[in-house]
Amino acid sequence: MKAILLNCSYKGEKSNSKYFLSLLKERLTIKTEAINLIEHNNFNKLSEKLKEAIAIVIGAPLYVDSMPGQVVELLENIYEVKNDFSRELTIYGVTNMGFYESKQMETQLRILKNFCSKSGFIYGGSLAIGAGEMMRNLNNVPLDRGPNKKMGEGIIKLSDAINKGEIMPDYFAEPNFFPRWLYMSIANHNFKKILKKEM
Ligand SMILES: Cc1cc2nc3c(=O)[nH]c(=O)nc-3n(C[C@H](O)[C@H](O)[C@H](O)COP(=O)(O)O)c2cc1C
Repeated sequence: MKAILLNCSYKGEKSNSKYFLSLLKERLTIKTEAINLIEHNNFNKLSEKLKEAIAIVIGAPLYVDSMPGQVVELLENIYEVKNDFSRELTIYGVTNMGFYESKQMETQLRILKNFCSKSGFIYGGSLAIGAGEMMRNLNNVPLDRGPNKKMGEGIIKLSDAINKGEIMPDYFAEPNFFPRWLYMSIANHNFKKILKKEM
């Protein structure tokens, strides 16, 4: 009985997806294995590992309001060999995005849900984190405090579901007590600073 935490960001170890998956890992009581997709260019070898899992957590950023190409390719590859996987395999997601509104990840999650229903896997639910770049930098704030509170609740719900082998409704988390207008004005300020440096 193993859960695989599959970080699908191109940024690998340095990615925000990896950070959010590591928060989840801390609360999992079942055996886990963390894998970076970019370190596996041989799908056959990767699929051997994936087949051992009872749960797979897909960690992915939002790209252009959708699922990044490398994740779509991975799902297509799994689909080809779906009959070799356990019928009890449950797939969960941890997604994050640059902008604030986590509901923007609904399409991305629908892709994961449709993939599960077409492949005969169980869709276990996802945690979708808005303002991912900021949330990642709040790693010194406890998960039950300040802007981290909603995301922390999502981590608890998702880890409980995985530990118990249950499914949960998708959970959308935005920074707690941190309004969108403030987030946007800080993001715009930083963006202008980056532009000035580049020009
Ligand atoms: C090619 C590309 C497309 C992106 N598209 C979106 C987008 O549509 N909406 C959004 O909010 N963020 C978008 N982002 C920002 C990422 O979702 C965000 O930086 C995320 O935290 C990256 O996670 P990672 O470090 O795990 O890769 C995009 C980033 C890249 C590189």
